[in-house]
Amino acid sequence: MNYIWRKRAGMRWWRDRGESLGRRFGGSLAVIARPGSERVLLEICCKTEQQARELVVEFGGSIERLRRGWLQDFARRAQAKPVRIGSRLVILRAPEKEAALSQPNRARPLIIPAEAAFGTGEHATTAMCLRLLERITRPFQPGWTMLDAGTGSGILAIAGGYFGASRVLAIDNDPLACTTAKRNARTNGLRHIEFSTGDILKHKLAGKFDIITANLFSELLIETLPIWSRHLAPGAHLIFSGILRSQEAAVVRALRRNRFAASEIRRRGKWIACVVEAVHAPLPKRFGAQEVEPPGRFRSIAPA
Ligand SMILES: C[S@@+](CC[C@H](N)C(=O)[O-])C[C@H]1O[C@@H](n2cnc3c(N)ncnc32)[C@H](O)[C@@H]1O
Repeated sequence: MNYIWRKRAGMRWWRDRGESLGRRFGGSLAVIARPGSERVLLEICCKTEQQARELVVEFGGSIERLRRGWLQDFARRAQAKPVRIGSRLVILRAPEKEAALSQPNRARPLIIPAEAAFGTGEHATTAMCLRLLERITRPFQPGWTMLDAGTGSGILAIAGGYFGASRVLAIDNDPLACTTAKRNARTNGLRHIEFSTGDILKHKLAGKFDIITANLFSELLIETLPIWSRHLAPGAHLIFSGILRSQEAAVVRALRRNRFAASEIRRRGKWIACVVEAVHAPLPKRFGAQEVEPPGRFRSIAPA
């Protein structure tokens, strides 16, 4: 990956094209929005100059050629601190950082180098999903199953493997993300995670899962809810994030339509993360699914 296409766009431009750009470019698209600003900065990583030029022809904007080794330079500069996830896990950028964890009975280190795929544990959405995954699976006996939809660096899938999942299926439509995720799983000594490149909307899923993680964006999440409801085992949990606070109400409405109940919502900065369960009670005949408040707790708690 040697070129970055960049464009500053007004909110209206972005609203009109955001969804289709998200679908076309997946994890290669970065959207940088500053609080109070009327504009967003869009960046798309391109493998070839030709690809970047085609974007300029289609949308305007400019191209930057990245120098060799830019990712390693960036990672060195970033000097990320370890990210602690409950008492069971700590995310590190490099194995040598393990030595810095001096206390006895320390959490198990999970090594995720800074690479092109999304998910090093520092982003609020990933960190919230990891903490929810850690807490929910604490009482689980080893042998449970997990689906990670939009795996990026594989961080949630690998964490699931650490927490005792016996079967983990991780899907991403970006081949580069899958390659990175496979490498990360190997680095961390986990060989039983199945990585698959493809669109989660089209993937032929088999069986049911005890946990589904989906750190995606709201439109895609809403579209995938009917799929998750077919593949969640009874009593299973869906953990999702990638949703902005401004999208929370629409997502909660979509959950109800699909007979899910939110049991917990976490908020951090502009992002929310949510744990939901399927509502299995039969609906009274005179009600349509959309009119019935699903039973179950709805707890909203402060950011971690
Ligand atoms: C925000 S990242 C999340 C990465 C990681 N799971 C985490 O929590 O840090 C979303 C990932 O979903 C992938 N993705 C987006 N649309 C997808 C689709 N329709 N099917 C499969 N993966 C998709 C992107 O390529 C990206 O790697």
